[in-house]
Amino acid sequence: MSPLKLFSCRLILTLSVFTLAESANEYHTTRRLRCIYNSPDLSDMVYIESYYFNKYLFTQFNSTLGNYVGFSEYGMRVAEFWNNDTTLMQSTRATLDTFCKHNAQIYDSIIRNKAVKPKVKLSAAKWAGGRHPAVLMCSAFEFYPPHIKVSWLRDGKLMTSEVTSTMEMADGDWYYQIHSELEYTPKSGEKISCMVEHASSTQPMIYDWDPSLPESERNKIAIGASGLVLGIVLGAAGLIYYKKKSSGRILVPN
Ligand SMILES: *[C@@H]1O[C@H](CO)[C@@H](O)[C@H](O)[C@H]1NC(C)=O
Ligand SMILES: *[C@@H]1O[C@H](CO)[C@@H](O)[C@H](O)[C@H]1NC(C)=O
Repeated sequence: MSPLKLFSCRLILTLSVFTLAESANEYHTTRRLRCIYNSPDLSDMVYIESYYFNKYLFTQFNSTLGNYVGFSEYGMRVAEFWNNDTTLMQSTRATLDTFCKHNAQIYDSIIRNKAVKPKVKLSAAKWAGGRHPAVLMCSAFEFYPPHIKVSWLRDGKLMTSEVTSTMEMADGDWYYQIHSELEYTPKSGEKISCMVEHASSTQPMIYDWDPSLPESERNKIAIGASGLVLGIVLGAAGLIYYKKKSSGRILVPN
């Protein structure tokens, strides 16, 4: 019988005793496997195998140490027993490569490389007037994965005060959105930018605020301009139509 099986048998025995004594409660034993890493080349990856009884961690394997460690009298006995088993230790130590790195490479290719770049919108939530500071809103939409950082720059320098951010919010379709507000007193000649950092881009994405016109004014100009273009197009079409008609007509003298 392998030590793992022996161990589970012992726990089941313990469990049934407890269940008899206190039937209103449930008891849980948990084996939790974690592969933790930050570096894309997986060089800093650590494999952690933890054993819990309810919320108490009693034995853990950490690939950096290469051994099981116990955190209670029973946990230490289990650790000692497993550390003594060369076959088990060989396979546990190999887990970092055979399980963690192996799967991480697969996940990388199917999930991490599927990052979707956010659509970023910079808008004025409130215009400065009298003593009121202005409020700008930087919104990032439809990005994946959820981890993102939105910050504000004034002339290229990070602004820290008067910034409020929401959490990443799930759209429910694997995409996320986030909103960040900046309250500030505008100064002439300065440049305010919103900086978005996300897995979809190796460089921070920087969006400069253009305070030259209020948004409603800009919309009016856009509508006016498109009206003018439409007018010119229609006028030109009418002229061409008229020319064609008149050239095609046989003029019968009276
Ligand atoms: C694993 O062990 C290393 C070295 O002792 C330590 O720095 C690291 O925090 C441990 N990891 C965990 C999750 O306990
Ligand atoms: C470790 O293994 C040896 C031989 O395989 C055995 O004699 C010894 O009792 C074991 N020690 C523990 C703590 O299990």
